[in-house]
Amino acid sequence: MLKIAVLISGSGSNLQAIIDNIESGNLKCSIEAVISDKKDAYGIDRAKSKNIKTYVMDKKQYGTTISQEIFKILDGKVDLIVLAGFLSILQGEILLKFKNKIINIHPALIPCFCGAGMYGIKVHEKALEYGVKVSGCSVHFVDEGTDSGPIIIQKVVQVYGEDSAIELQKRVLQQEHIALPEAIKYISEGKIRIVGRKVIGI
Ligand code: GAR
Repeated sequence: MLKIAVLISGSGSNLQAIIDNIESGNLKCSIEAVISDKKDAYGIDRAKSKNIKTYVMDKKQYGTTISQEIFKILDGKVDLIVLAGFLSILQGEILLKFKNKIINIHPALIPCFCGAGMYGIKVHEKALEYGVKVSGCSVHFVDEGTDSGPIIIQKVVQVYGEDSAIELQKRVLQQEHIALPEAIKYISEGKIRIVGRKVIGI
């Protein structure tokens, strides 16, 4: 069975979606660890309530060593690292050793409204400011860049003229909760392979 770690920074609703899919039998994998770079992240409570091993590695305390510290915890223990609203940027050895084994969810249709500094509500504010008629979410493999690795799944939502950023965020989040477990399922079933920038097999 695929062993995964889920990295979070906040509410952990995407973590919850993964847990729900495992519990319903839709997803066959086990969550070996949940790591947060914020000590008060609600996702940590969600994990603890399911007896999942948790680690809090405060960004302010660990600074640029956070990637290496996470690598030390996860090396040899998991097959896949899932960034589910994790806001620190991974760099160094972990990217090499977990090449094509780290995935991230982003709340927009990459390559729009993504990259350094684009996270959370800001993404939706920018999408509305630009006047797009659709937005959505993307699950992609993580490489050395920010939100730049091969795309596994994208889900689209309609944007309405009177939308606030919060309303758009909620609509996108519903799709995230479908897309992220779906991407993990494809990986756990060995269905996909990467050819250049393309993810094939879905
Ligand atoms: C999600 O919307 C996720 O796409 C976003 O943070 C939120 C976390 O929500 N991630 C980014 O913006 C990364 N660039 P959650 O803690 O409820 O899963």
